[in-house]
Amino acid sequence: MTTYADLHAQSMNDPEGFWLEAAQAIDWITPPTTACDFSNAPAAKWFPGAQLNTCYNAIDRHVVAGRGDEVALIYDSPVTDTKRTFTFANLQQEVAKVAGGLKALNVQKGDRVLIYMPMVPEAIFAMLACARIGAVHSVVFGGFAAKEIAVRINDAGAKVVLTATGGIEPNRTVPYIPLVTEALETADHKPEAVVCLQRPQVPGDLPAPFLDWAAWVADASAADCAPLNAQDPLYILYTSGTTGAPKGIVRENGGHAVAMAWSMKHLYDVGPGQTFWAASDIGWIVGHSYIAYAPLIAGCATVLYEGKPVGTPDPGAFWRVIEDYGVRALFTAPTAMRAIKQQDSEGAYLRGKDISSLKYLFLAGERCDPPTAAWAEDLLQVPIIDNWWQTETAWAICSNFMGLNDPMVMKPGSPSKPSPGYDVQVLSDAGEPVAAGEIGNLVVKLPLPPSCFGTLWRAHDRWIETYMREFPGYYQTGDAGMIDQDGYVFVMSRTDDVMNVAGHRLSTGAFEEVIASHPAVAECAVVGIADDLKGQLPLGLIVLKAGQSTDGILQDCIRLIREKIGPVAAFKLAAIVPRLPKTRSGKILRATIRKMADGEAVAVPPTIDDPAILDEIRTELKKLGYAQ
Ligand code: COA
Ligand code: AMP
Repeated sequence: MTTYADLHAQSMNDPEGFWLEAAQAIDWITPPTTACDFSNAPAAKWFPGAQLNTCYNAIDRHVVAGRGDEVALIYDSPVTDTKRTFTFANLQQEVAKVAGGLKALNVQKGDRVLIYMPMVPEAIFAMLACARIGAVHSVVFGGFAAKEIAVRINDAGAKVVLTATGGIEPNRTVPYIPLVTEALETADHKPEAVVCLQRPQVPGDLPAPFLDWAAWVADASAADCAPLNAQDPLYILYTSGTTGAPKGIVRENGGHAVAMAWSMKHLYDVGPGQTFWAASDIGWIVGHSYIAYAPLIAGCATVLYEGKPVGTPDPGAFWRVIEDYGVRALFTAPTAMRAIKQQDSEGAYLRGKDISSLKYLFLAGERCDPPTAAWAEDLLQVPIIDNWWQTETAWAICSNFMGLNDPMVMKPGSPSKPSPGYDVQVLSDAGEPVAAGEIGNLVVKLPLPPSCFGTLWRAHDRWIETYMREFPGYYQTGDAGMIDQDGYVFVMSRTDDVMNVAGHRLSTGAFEEVIASHPAVAECAVVGIADDLKGQLPLGLIVLKAGQSTDGILQDCIRLIREKIGPVAAFKLAAIVPRLPKTRSGKILRATIRKMADGEAVAVPPTIDDPAILDEIRTELKKLGYAQ
């Protein structure tokens, strides 16, 4: 019997043996003979010398195995009233054609393709098509504005942009053509081609140089899977850091495929012929790993849901999808459960629905608050599994492992224990280990396991500086937390200036850059403050230049954030203050502002420059309904 303790110990004591065995779940062109080459520390090379194709593993091999007629992709879109299913054979044809279309646009192995698309099957085809020919995709979340698209076009050096005429939100359509056009105009780097999918719900005339998706695919010949090195990049996914410049997380083919396959079987306990549903968006890491790749690699059906937990049309939407497709495991963010709980705390919308297929609810993306977990468990009568992970890792750093014989007893507020390959520790700011139960910096001893990033796109020095420098020999996760005497990990908060709004990771620095660009603004501070629904909400404190009128400034700043970052920023709370609280060396006391807004006791920091400003800020926060 494989126990968690044995398994984790093996991954620590014999990583070569552990990961070479795990690698057998993948079809290789050249199988690996070495698991990890750590000679170039701090970066680890996983499965050096091996060759594979991720798209082949996600699609073709299941067709070859005679499973071509089984369902691979389920598209369920309450916002367009559409349901479609694709078998592995269908998916192979669709993806091969898109791959051929990319080749016809001269996309070669290693070229970057930016995908700015809503939750439609063609977006999944596009991702897998890139994987098929060795192009590197970079998906940009549909809630981001033109500037964010432009930043990513530049940084990635995108050769081609794939897009659609628009996305659909419950209360409106979101035309993409103006956003992509503005991004193309403002980006310094100019892609060679743009292909646009016409959506009947958001029709749009395609301006030059946009090509029509349907005609492009119709003209394309099917392309086959290219042999790729395990180290070749599969995708770049940009994520927020402390500064406004997003970080391009690079994912390699080999380690990713192995970790995805391992996690589906041992962590999520889902296999061929079963249905897995990650209710996220392909623009986020959860969508990359557990909508597009892992379920298909494992031979499962994956659900692509274009809707919300509430309002499309009601808080029973998730239960309806589980019933319709016999979903075995649902994976979403705690905020989605809070939204359902807020609107249907008694579970009235569950009555009459048969969700007996559901075995587990996995929650990740933000801290899982125990009351929400308890509510969901009581309602659904299945285990609620909190798992902690990051864009940087692409799979859980800590979780409970439902495919093992001895799932752990869960502790509320803890994502349980480290996944294989993760040696999670807690260090003080001075880099010393802390005692069990004490809060400190959550770090992972190097080397990082397969699928974790080994660099930032064209910014290796920034990778070292941001993640590897502070605690030599360890990866700094950016999260603070503790490990209790039983080895359970608790993730409490970020140690940097990153907010988590509805499970979306956003940089306070990016918000501050936008607000500071307003001609009347002298300086500002943005912090993430507690919110019952979204976990955190951004709050801006703004100082005006001398002599500036306050008229309309807050509305301007709110509009600017929506225009420059996007609606997903959910920026609505702002106040004008006379000064910001700072240390005598000029550092803004963001943690003090956050605690004050959250109504926590605030000790006046001894280094504060001007203690009186705290009272003035408290008054402004009270006017907004905070600091109570
Ligand atoms: N394209 C364009 N706009 C988008 C968008 C997209 N793909 N996704 C969200 N937006 C917009 C929304 O329309 C909304 O705009 P508004 O200010 O005009 O209303 C704004 O961005 C904020 O959206 P959202 O974060 O979805 O908040 P909400 O209040 O509409 O809904 C929840 C709240 C909890 C239902 C929603 O956040 C949710 O479903 N969360 C699930 C969490 C999740 O999937 N996390 C991913 C990581 S696992
Ligand atoms: P992202 O890279 O967008 O997935 O965001 C990663 C961050 O989300 C982590 O660094 C944590 O701060 C937070 N996070 C993700 N999952 C959890 C969890 N289960 N518990 C607490 N925080 C989490």
